Amino acid sequence: MSNQALIEKLNAQLNREISTFLRYMLQGAKIRGAQWEAVRDMYLSEVADEVGHAQYLANQIEILGGSPTLDPDLAAPPSDVREMLQRDIEQEGADVRNYTELAELAGSQGRMALKLKMEEQAGDEDEHRQEMGRLLGR
Ligand SMILES: [Fe+2]
Ligand SMILES: [Fe+2]
Repeated sequence: MSNQALIEKLNAQLNREISTFLRYMLQGAKIRGAQWEAVRDMYLSEVADEVGHAQYLANQIEILGGSPTLDPDLAAPPSDVREMLQRDIEQEGADVRNYTELAELAGSQGRMALKLKMEEQAGDEDEHRQEMGRLLGR
């Protein structure tokens, strides 16, 4: 696979990360009620993780000779907290799969630092997914 195809996959994931940290920031701001305080804290603390993921992807795109192209999903988040968690568990799962694919692709090109970092980011998303499931009482 060419550099260009790798850049495109990294850019698609960059846009997912930017969409995620915008959504988590807005959801953290939106949540009301003492019973959901732990969920609010979780979303606000995960914003920094997702920004870090986005920053790494943007740097890699530049290193590979590309330029990030931004097209985030700016849809308003749901108001219902359970709906937020259910949707985000699915999205975190999709991110685990995307990072696993990116790690395999990077490894097949001998890009070992990128491979390890993509595996680390897959692990972060898997932890986010588990934490959300726990907060949902699963
Ligand atoms: Fe992320
Ligand atoms: Fe995440």
